[in-house]
Amino acid sequence: MKVLMVASECAPFVKTGGLADVVGALPTALAGLDIDAQVLLPAYPPLFPHLPKGEEVARFDDLPGGPGRIVRVAAEGIKLLLLDAPQLFDRPDGIYIDGNGRDWSDNHLRFGALSMAGARIAMGAIDGYQPDVVHAHDWQASLTPVYMRMAGRDTPRSIITIHNIAFQGRFGPQVLGQLQLKTDWFHPEGLEFHGDLSFLKGALMFSDRITTVSPTYAREILTPEFGMGLDGVLRSRAGFLSGVLNGIDTDAWDPSDDATLAQTYDAKSLKGKAANRVALSERLGLDTNSDGPLFCVVSRLTGQKGLDALLDAVPHLVERGAQLAVLGTGQPELEQGFRDAAMAHPGQVATHIGYDEALSHLFQAGSDAILIPSRFEPCGLTQLYGLRYGTLPIVARTGGLADTVIDANVAAILAKAATGFVFHDVSATGIALVIDRAVEAYADQKLWQSMQRAAMRHPVSWDSSAQAYRDLYTDLVG
Ligand code: ADP
Ligand code: GLC
Repeated sequence: MKVLMVASECAPFVKTGGLADVVGALPTALAGLDIDAQVLLPAYPPLFPHLPKGEEVARFDDLPGGPGRIVRVAAEGIKLLLLDAPQLFDRPDGIYIDGNGRDWSDNHLRFGALSMAGARIAMGAIDGYQPDVVHAHDWQASLTPVYMRMAGRDTPRSIITIHNIAFQGRFGPQVLGQLQLKTDWFHPEGLEFHGDLSFLKGALMFSDRITTVSPTYAREILTPEFGMGLDGVLRSRAGFLSGVLNGIDTDAWDPSDDATLAQTYDAKSLKGKAANRVALSERLGLDTNSDGPLFCVVSRLTGQKGLDALLDAVPHLVERGAQLAVLGTGQPELEQGFRDAAMAHPGQVATHIGYDEALSHLFQAGSDAILIPSRFEPCGLTQLYGLRYGTLPIVARTGGLADTVIDANVAAILAKAATGFVFHDVSATGIALVIDRAVEAYADQKLWQSMQRAAMRHPVSWDSSAQAYRDLYTDLVG
């Protein structure tokens, strides 16, 4: 079976969030199941200087925004098909935004071109390569199934995976022509969303299957509260929608073999974790003689993540004798808020603004617990890294967080099944209450360590989810 993935990010090459981790790890997991998954990704010249020289396998003259060619390379165990179109992708700054934090004004062309290249490859543009299934990820790849359907082809079959329905790729109707889209498909049963073109809605209407990254989020997005305006469209296609939980790359995230740690450890040598807390504290200027737990945050700093509410709970956290370490970038007011919190509580709160992959491993290893008070969370990966590193997740009961963390209630503690703390109310009060529960549990080190061991036993690899995708592909191909 051959699967063509189409995506705008892929770890370890280019990453702004969990989408990259998934697109980077899933192909390897599928390879173990005899599925040949190749990833179509923009070449982003500033990010790819170190790639081995590849082979040109296709050329297109008429993509939205100009010509492009496809270069095939294998790197880090992943088979990549790079869309080389420098006029669209050779830019400084972010892959989606310019230096002032504004979306590139031609993002519709950039990801329209990616999508069209995906559709052309799906329909046989590369000699000797015919995928059976096209698996598009998020809005940036969402026009791929639309272009395939426009070409009147029903093979290969298509899947769209929604990693975050908050990002829909919505543009004014004037871009239809530039994107070579059929204007007679521009209506509410097609590509139109409240007078605009919506890339994601196109995929929801024209893909054979829709998945999202956890079973709970698959149910949540059918409701107005979580559907971000697309819940009606999703309800109309509910029979084709399912949730497949993300896994993680357990080689890249392995506390017993992680070169970025001060000391490696496993469930049997948990004491080794303490050296990482000291190393992290020294690096961040936190007091090393605290008796309370060290909580961390590793996150995009945005409203989705509920970190404004956490900010309001910081004084309570410090009063309870806990410490907080924050690693993130995002909304300027949240960055400033966490910098101010660190100034207000020297030695107890530390903030590192920036994106730092290696440091994120030390945060996971050196902290006792990771706080994820998200208002919505399609899956979330940092709680899975936390489980793997014996860093107990403290999570809001939503999306994939609800599907992966077992709350330390009395029954779960008695069954030795508890792996973290789950709470409902994303507010300063709700967070203060769950912080109290975690601080009290930490004071009982026997309980805490038994929870750490349960967390580290929890299956977080791709094994069962890769099988779920394989079953879905097999079902589609028939
Ligand atoms: P989302 O995709 O919504 O941002 P996820 O939890 O799925 O949330 O994935 C976030 C990914 O980005 C994780 O791999 C996390 O470790 C990483 N990450 C987030 N912020 C940072 C940061 N400032 N430095 C390093 N890694 C980060
Ligand atoms: C999105 C979601 C996150 C999910 C990730 C990977 O960025 O916000 O919850 O884990 O995609 O699927």
